[in-house]
Amino acid sequence: MTETTVNKLREHVGEEVVVKGWLYNKRSKGKIHFLLIRDGTGIVQGVMVKGGLPDETFQLGGRVTQESSLVVTGTVRKDDRAPGGYELELRGLEIIQMAKDYPIALQSHGPDFLLDHRHLWLRSRNQHAIMRVRHAAVKAIRDFFDERDFVLIDTPIFTPAACEGTSTLFEVKYFDDKAYLAQSGQLYGEAAAMAHRKIYCFGPTFRAEKSKTRRHLTEFWMVEPEVAFLDLDGVMDLAEEFVEYIVQFVLKTRRVELETLGRDISKLEAVGRPFPRITYTEAVEKINAAGVEMEWGNDFGAPQETALGRRYDRPVMVHRWPARTKAFYMKRDSQDERLALGVDMIAPEGYGELIGGAQREDDLETLEKRIAEYNLPREAFEWYLDLRRYGTVPHGGFGLGLERTVTWLCGIEHLRETIPFPRMLYRLYP
Ligand code: 4AD
Ligand code: MG
Repeated sequence: MTETTVNKLREHVGEEVVVKGWLYNKRSKGKIHFLLIRDGTGIVQGVMVKGGLPDETFQLGGRVTQESSLVVTGTVRKDDRAPGGYELELRGLEIIQMAKDYPIALQSHGPDFLLDHRHLWLRSRNQHAIMRVRHAAVKAIRDFFDERDFVLIDTPIFTPAACEGTSTLFEVKYFDDKAYLAQSGQLYGEAAAMAHRKIYCFGPTFRAEKSKTRRHLTEFWMVEPEVAFLDLDGVMDLAEEFVEYIVQFVLKTRRVELETLGRDISKLEAVGRPFPRITYTEAVEKINAAGVEMEWGNDFGAPQETALGRRYDRPVMVHRWPARTKAFYMKRDSQDERLALGVDMIAPEGYGELIGGAQREDDLETLEKRIAEYNLPREAFEWYLDLRRYGTVPHGGFGLGLERTVTWLCGIEHLRETIPFPRMLYRLYP
């Protein structure tokens, strides 16, 4: 008898097959048991009819509990009414382990309970769909850069200094010294771009975010391309091509999962280039016009991002920010010294900032001055200044937050469901 998986049932219509998995849910109606069996690749309904199989097996079907591990034998039937389009007419059932009192019922629990049981929650239908969207987004990210001759450069996690502001640094003991967990791989990416021209890094980054919001994790994944001889317009061109690519790939490969999640797919289908580009100053006017208070010179908070993002049917890029809201490494606008050549990409539908990027300061003396102005420890940045001493060129790049992107793609409320084991202000378990 052929052993197969739920996602391959269509290749076995009319055949008897073996499927190994777990009991997701069960319904009984007198002489019939409906067993919903999940095997990691999908969920299939198995039907047991009294009299159609040994009585002992039918009794076992009545006793099997949620999340018990099992092996079933049955004939594959095409059935358009069945979830997934196929059904198993069960002949055999073998229990590997009978689970007792599985804590997650299929009706809703509060978020803290679910997060405490994240190791089990991952099995639930929606969580299963979200992880598959995440995987597709990761593949799209890698394919996009690999197809365009970017070289993958892995940047360190233990670092000697801050990249994105000193207020969110995680300090760790490093033998007799101290180190910080990387907030971004960018500075190392800049070094690698001078060696390879086009690079990207992609890995976990860390920020001691003390605020409890639905858009912040303390450990999140960021992909950061960095390119030599690229100016701010080039950074925006790359960012919009990239985001369009991810959306298209996920629409093509994960439509079933998006439907499971109840995502309004037409909203993602609208995401095509060109994306609108507006200056920070224009954005401030639009936010105020939308009735949300916003003073020129401040950074956006969630209400401002939401108000702006809602005005568009695709991501909007906001460029030329007041320099004091941005990091030390951003180049200033030659037309207006108060402005930094930075860009944020804000998602539609209120999902907030997906991307932060910039053209970098490439002049040695200016960068030395900035490091002093931002009160950063000069010794820790000597190597970075070398990049301006030896063959400096205009260059730029950006960082895209993976979990922000997946939250938007899935159309869900909270970032915490888009990473297998979320780390947040009060959450380090499991
Ligand atoms: O805007 P950020 O801070 O930019 C940088 O780190 C630059 N060094 C990137 C670069 O130019 N190479 O962060 C980039 C993105 C944000 O737009 C957001 O999507 C995500 O990272 N992000 C977070 N995601 C989850 N939780 C947090 N606490 C995040 N902080 C930033
Ligand atoms: Mg940012």
